[in-house]
Amino acid sequence: MKVTFAAQRPEGAHALAIPVRGEDMLNDRLAGLDEAARRLAARAADAQRFEREAAAIAETFVAEGEGARRLLLIGLGGKKDEDAIYERIGGALAARLLTSGETRLVIDVAGLDVDGRAAARIGFGAAARSWRHDVYRTKLGRKQKPTLEEVVIVGGGDGAGEAWNDLAAVLEGLRLTRTLVTEPANVIYPESFVERCRAAMDGLGVEFEVLDDARMRKLGMGALLGVGQGSVRPPRLLAMRWNGGGGETKRKPVVLIGKGITFDTGGISIKPAAGMEAMKWDMGGAAAVAGTIRALAARKSGADVVGICVLAENMPDGNAQRPGDIVTSMSGQTIEVINTDAEGRLVLCDAMTWAQRQYKPEVMIDLATLTGAMIISLGHEYAGMFSNDAGLAERLAAAGSESGDRLWRMPMGEAYDKLMDSPIADMKNSGVREGGSITAACFLGRFVEDGVKWAHLDIAGMVWADKPGHLYDKGATGFGVALLDRFIARYHEG
Ligand code: BES
Ligand code: MN
Ligand code: ZN
Repeated sequence: MKVTFAAQRPEGAHALAIPVRGEDMLNDRLAGLDEAARRLAARAADAQRFEREAAAIAETFVAEGEGARRLLLIGLGGKKDEDAIYERIGGALAARLLTSGETRLVIDVAGLDVDGRAAARIGFGAAARSWRHDVYRTKLGRKQKPTLEEVVIVGGGDGAGEAWNDLAAVLEGLRLTRTLVTEPANVIYPESFVERCRAAMDGLGVEFEVLDDARMRKLGMGALLGVGQGSVRPPRLLAMRWNGGGGETKRKPVVLIGKGITFDTGGISIKPAAGMEAMKWDMGGAAAVAGTIRALAARKSGADVVGICVLAENMPDGNAQRPGDIVTSMSGQTIEVINTDAEGRLVLCDAMTWAQRQYKPEVMIDLATLTGAMIISLGHEYAGMFSNDAGLAERLAAAGSESGDRLWRMPMGEAYDKLMDSPIADMKNSGVREGGSITAACFLGRFVEDGVKWAHLDIAGMVWADKPGHLYDKGATGFGVALLDRFIARYHEG
């Protein structure tokens, strides 16, 4: 999707969209149209009970020379929606026109006092909502194929182009994340995940380091290796380093860690068959981390950030780990594996230890599709956030609401933590069902070293959508990329 900005409406074939606020006089917004067109548009708005609600659309055709032009009125809603509304209207218009036969959409915001950044966000919404993964659809009919190629935003304020450059970088990251999440587990496994990331970031100046299983053994990553040992696909740990601060800054890098279980059968504690295909996206945390690094590099962020993807496949097999096995993590702490399906925390804990020894971070954030219980708690509206630092939690929550990737802070504490004690080892990997997301977070908390500000984001409910949202179709959402990009931009640059 090509997104451009212009001062005047272009000539030639296009659909025309006109945003309307609650308080606008419709006639003012239609000022560029002739009398007959204005009357038709007003009639269409009435007939379709268009009340300018956020992203509501009324559609009609108006005469234009010899032909007809598709005209869409789109609501901007009330004041409270202000910021995110621009992305939303871009998304709604793109969704409406994507396969409509229209190839070009002009969105005319002249007279609305839309600044450059807001205009860019309209483009972002349109481009994000238009993403699809059609590589396996060999029989798409003519009418199912996207036609919309270009969005022109007319009449926005200065600085739209600059703001767009940053958002275009975020889009690149979002696309990488969604692609990784969407691809099935016979295509994306630990080694191929690494190769995809390399290809996607070729020439951008990101440093790659990859640990293979032999290296993990030397480092004593017994928890991570235990998860991978039932699969013929060996585990990998991928570290992507973006030195935007020149790497010379006194500040320590921000470390992001993503759970990358490329398929989660549950292992010997095998999951039921129904819906198991969803577990191809149990690497959504790792994909979000990769997409974020891609975005930071593309927009040449001034921060030092390390993105770590901890990659393994959780399979049942003659060599798989058994319930009751005791593994020794890289930290030296021992873990009784009660349930082989609680594998995310096992791979994450070794990645956390490695990251802290390697990079001495001040801030460490992990993203993981960690627990089904998270979806029971918060549904699909917020990801759960667990943190040992109130300031970090506040900053992440702020970046969350600004970006639309929303976070809700959850409690932790000793009473939960002790539910993870084991009678035979330092801890067990699974306790009671109640508060399952919280006890999982407490397990991870045992691997956080003194002085490290840490947040764990349980994104189990956010990675995949069964119905379309404002900025995505059914399927991979790309959750986390806009959030982390915003967080880094706001608090870790300059
Ligand atoms: N990957 C799953 C969590 C999950 C479930 C994510 C559904 C998205 C949708 C995770 O590895 C898992 O299986 N967790 C178990 C933990 C339990 C065994 C303590 C769970 O949530 O049931
Ligand atoms: Mn599992
Ligand atoms: Zn899992």
